Amino acid sequence: MGNYIITGGTKGLGFATAQLLAKKKGAKLIITGRDSKTGLAKVHQLQVQSGNTNIHFIKLDLGDFESISSFLGQYKRLLWDGIDALINNAGIQYVSPTRYTEQGYELTFGVNHMGHFFLTDLLMPFMNIASTIINVASGVHNPRLKTGIPNPVYTTAKELAFPEFNSKKNWRKVGQTRYSTSKLCNILHTYRLAREFASEGMDTSVVAFDPGMMPGTGLADDYPAYIRWIWKNILPIRTLFTNRINTPRQSAGILVKLIEGSMGITNKTGYFYVGGEEKSSTQSYDENLQEDLWLFSLDEVNKFRFAKHNQMTK
Ligand SMILES: NC(=O)c1ccc[n+]([C@@H]2O[C@H](COP(=O)([O-])OP(=O)(O)OC[C@H]3O[C@@H](n4cnc5c(N)ncnc54)[C@H](OP(=O)(O)O)[C@@H]3O)[C@@H](O)[C@H]2O)c1
Repeated sequence: MGNYIITGGTKGLGFATAQLLAKKKGAKLIITGRDSKTGLAKVHQLQVQSGNTNIHFIKLDLGDFESISSFLGQYKRLLWDGIDALINNAGIQYVSPTRYTEQGYELTFGVNHMGHFFLTDLLMPFMNIASTIINVASGVHNPRLKTGIPNPVYTTAKELAFPEFNSKKNWRKVGQTRYSTSKLCNILHTYRLAREFASEGMDTSVVAFDPGMMPGTGLADDYPAYIRWIWKNILPIRTLFTNRINTPRQSAGILVKLIEGSMGITNKTGYFYVGGEEKSSTQSYDENLQEDLWLFSLDEVNKFRFAKHNQMTK
């Protein structure tokens, strides 16, 4: 049983998670992605593999608030009896010169954080009692783990959304830093959202989940061909013997256990990695940063809602 939404369920961790959830008796599942043809093909594959026909695709571009609004409309048409787990999984690691989302936010921050922030805000009224929101984060947010990806640089949410333009940067380093910072944002968002739920007496758990490195997924798609080749053909071998390097299937297995509450954890809100519960970086607990991110994001979402409302009443 259970009603699940997975953002970015077309490949990588999202698809592996969908494969496991689809097999659960009575499960209803929505996967999302930017391309309908791919999404519908993936739904077909999931239905055939699991025998479950309650699997749907809804087109969703997290880099466009209009697309997120229209997701809500389509979700409502399915008339589900609430959501048991929202898995905010979609993510990009963009390492080319700066690009922006439809609302003008830097792409990595816009997709990985702002899009999920808005989606979560819209879906909050539909979360069932004792439901779970999982924000898929990453160990790269944590300088202690020395992952090889540059440490996050959180200045202010406003600066992350609207960075200074500079055409002569080392884009790979900039992109990777933006990625690790966006994963820090996923955790800052998780902890702030958990406080929000607690203050409103809601019993939805909010979890930041680090799947470990999962070589072979689409996350390296923006890298040069030789790096993509190593990512897809060489690094997966390390899943056999290196801690914190997993196949998407292995990480999906833990993610599903987290949703089921079967990891022996009663109060699930917090930070988890594939091996269990652990502390996230010191910076992620900074309530000033959490508040800065929360207020900026809410303000932007409200501006969009206000403009849309005005447009419709004109
Ligand atoms: N791979 C790793 O080593 C690793 C490590 C730690 C954490 N993570 C995290 O795990 C999550 C899943 O990553 P993955 O490795 O499975 O990557 P992936 O194979 O590239 O999958 C990413 C998913 O996100 C979707 N997506 C991309 N851009 C989108 C957008 N603008 N709007 C909506 N959906 C979008 C993609 O769907 P479409 O292309 O069909 O739109 C795809 O389904 C990410 O949050 C990532 O940060 C990954």
